[in-house]
Amino acid sequence: MNSTLLPAAPPGPGSEAVSIAAERRWAYIVMAIIVLLILMMVFTGLHWASMPPSRVETVDIKTLHVKGEFVESNLGTTMGPDGKVMVRLIAQQYSFVPQCIVVPAGMPVTFRGTATDAIHGFIVGRTNVNTMLIPGFVATFTTTFSRAGEHLMPCHEYCGTGHEAMWARVQVLPTAEFLSKARGGERLSCVPS
Ligand code: CUA
Repeated sequence: MNSTLLPAAPPGPGSEAVSIAAERRWAYIVMAIIVLLILMMVFTGLHWASMPPSRVETVDIKTLHVKGEFVESNLGTTMGPDGKVMVRLIAQQYSFVPQCIVVPAGMPVTFRGTATDAIHGFIVGRTNVNTMLIPGFVATFTTTFSRAGEHLMPCHEYCGTGHEAMWARVQVLPTAEFLSKARGGERLSCVPS
């Protein structure tokens, strides 16, 4: 005997109360979820507002190439008279300038970079170097490369059709070799390897 062929039982006297109770239960659950989501939004909003970024530095994209810190002749690696190593770079669709960056091993290196067109970013090999480059903002961080060697430096923010072909190289020189090249203060470029 097939039970689906039986006529449906007529609604009993208590069935309306049962369905109203079920509806109400669902309404309470949905209301609780909405309240929870609103509380999460309020909490994350207040949390962000109470911990703004430690520093925000802006730069004008329109004049980036013609004046100021990020003109092409100022990009690359320099060592200041105070012995501080500074790398300046620009990301654009679809390359980094410069294409190859020289840094010393065992010394703090400060990177300053920005982007001209879209959001880019980079990581350097297996080091802790990892940052986004956003048009109009200067990204700054300092790191120390533990040993000499060569790393790939790919763009790691999707920036368009050429994204996967966008990368540079980082040459980490032994400290003494770097210092002998850096004396004089001019910009350093990669040595063929
Ligand atoms: Cu530049 Cu992805």
